[in-house]
Amino acid sequence: MNSNDFSSVYTDIDIANLPCHVAIIMDGNGRWAKKRILNRIEGHKKGVDVVRAIVRTCSKIGIPILTLYAFSTENWQRPKTEVAALMFILKNFLESEQKEMVDNNIRLNAIGQIEKLPKNVRQVLHQTINLTKKNTGLMLNLALSYGGRDEIVRMVREIAIKTKEGTIEPDLITPKLVSDFLYTKAMPDPDLLIRTSGEMRISNFLLWQIAYTEIFVTKTLWPDFGKQEFLQILKHYQSRERRFGKV
Ligand code: IPE
Ligand code: IPE
Ligand code: MG
Repeated sequence: MNSNDFSSVYTDIDIANLPCHVAIIMDGNGRWAKKRILNRIEGHKKGVDVVRAIVRTCSKIGIPILTLYAFSTENWQRPKTEVAALMFILKNFLESEQKEMVDNNIRLNAIGQIEKLPKNVRQVLHQTINLTKKNTGLMLNLALSYGGRDEIVRMVREIAIKTKEGTIEPDLITPKLVSDFLYTKAMPDPDLLIRTSGEMRISNFLLWQIAYTEIFVTKTLWPDFGKQEFLQILKHYQSRERRFGKV
């Protein structure tokens, strides 16, 4: 299948009923490498190709926001060599994709403790965000040193400070206000959350935002994931009845 042809799976998708926001927990790179008796880092490298394919697909079919969980607050506890390799891969990814993002009207955004990333990663990240900030197509939202609990603690702190200063009345703290103090302010909550590699857990991802998100877990390891399976999941998503607690 060439890159301009989404074949029958694509034509089965109702373009008028796409999720506004898709979030993905890209898991299974290490296991993919282990199965091949390779270093875990080879799995992360292979995972980048899948990131490219999914970003392109989302951009082409017109999904407004794609949030990718690339590095969690807990992932800093991995061996130093793996953390360093992940940061290197991230920097290379940003450098190599800058032009494609600019050319394809993709806007880059990042959520998480960006200040904790190595300086050379922060530089290229800020540069790419700046270069693409006027783009109006897909928003590629990278979760980097992201943790849902960290995000909630930050929000509580900021609201507590404003309450103490008297700029926010406690009675005016609503779910909308809470959302406005999260990294994802101004974004709709994810409609669809995909996790690869079969783990039935959230691993500290978007804890507040996924209250009514449709969850889809696939056993496929992230490096084996691809456009076809992604489109199939979208099709499946479109067959789900979202009730939001109503009847
Ligand atoms: C996901 O793959 C990538 C990151 C968390 C950075 P893993 O590295 O978690 O792969 P597994 O889960 O060990 O197979
Ligand atoms: C979640 O995967 C984090 C990312 C995909 C970046 P992990 O591999 O870190 O999660 P656990 O350890 O299986 O919960
Ligand atoms: Mg994992």
